Amino acid sequence: MSIQTIGIIGAGQMGSGIAQVCAQNGYTTFLTDAAQEFVDRGAARILGAWDTMESKGKISHDDVLLYRSRLRPTMNLQDYVACDVVIEAIIENKAEKVKIFRALDDLLRPEALLLSNTSSISLTEIAAVTKRADRVAGLHFFNPAPVMKLVEIVRALETSDATVETLKEFAASLGKTAVIAKDTAGFIVNFLLIPYLLAAIRMYENGTASMEDIDTAMKLGTGYPMGPFTLADYVGLDTTLFAAEVIYADNPDPAYAPPPLLKRMVAAGRLGKKSGRGFYTYE
Ligand code: 3HC
Repeated sequence: MSIQTIGIIGAGQMGSGIAQVCAQNGYTTFLTDAAQEFVDRGAARILGAWDTMESKGKISHDDVLLYRSRLRPTMNLQDYVACDVVIEAIIENKAEKVKIFRALDDLLRPEALLLSNTSSISLTEIAAVTKRADRVAGLHFFNPAPVMKLVEIVRALETSDATVETLKEFAASLGKTAVIAKDTAGFIVNFLLIPYLLAAIRMYENGTASMEDIDTAMKLGTGYPMGPFTLADYVGLDTTLFAAEVIYADNPDPAYAPPPLLKRMVAAGRLGKKSGRGFYTYE
């Protein structure tokens, strides 16, 4: 199948990052969200990233103009009729995702692929509300999407071999390396990453070491680019908590049980970098 036009649903950190990657790699890319202000903010983030890349000499001004011409921020979902692939990247709320998948399934051409960037919600359950379960799969990007080289292709129960093959080629066209995972909570990366982040929080709660020292230890002791508290703040404490809860529900291993401190921080609105305060405080 030839892919030319992509639609992204959700203009937040992940959706706008994915839209940026698609537009940079030759695809006409629609970007929408529930309100104009979210679309405007997402589009502004992408344009800002291209300006920064130009100022660093990584791309030319002509590149910026070309990328801009491919980006189509819109509030009109009808525009998505033209899409060969739609990637949903809204908040991790199954009811909301189901609503969007139903609407897109009615709207899109039958051959179009319907993908989700979900980090933990079952793709098989989402696919079941559509009439194209063979063309539904997960395409899970990592934050920051323009930088991180991996995508997880998540194969739901009914996803066809042809869809997986198309997604492998699509991921390569975006400059990403793809790995394939079954539709199990957490897939590959979060299944391994989440218990590590939760163990760091427990270690801090137990008084073994300070947050700063745990972060320093893991950065310098293992070569990770960020320590666990910096990374949890970066990913978002709400996202971390949600992923832990979903994996724990599917796989009741105490390593996935969210620590009380994480729950309380989310309840208090300390969501990490995006809210200005998580384990650390941000300007
Ligand atoms: N958008 C575009 N480019 C960005 C960016 C962004 N949001 N953030 C950083 N960059 C670019 C910078 O411009 C810079 O480019 P340059 O080298 O050409 O100048 C390059 O990335 C490196 O950035 P910095 O110099 O500012 O900082 P670092 O070297 O510390 O790198 C980082 C930043 C790439 C975020 C690095 O710290 C890192 O890899 N951290 C770990 C991130 C990680 O683990 N992500 C996965 C989280 S799990 C997940 O997403 C799954 C979900 O389901 C929970």
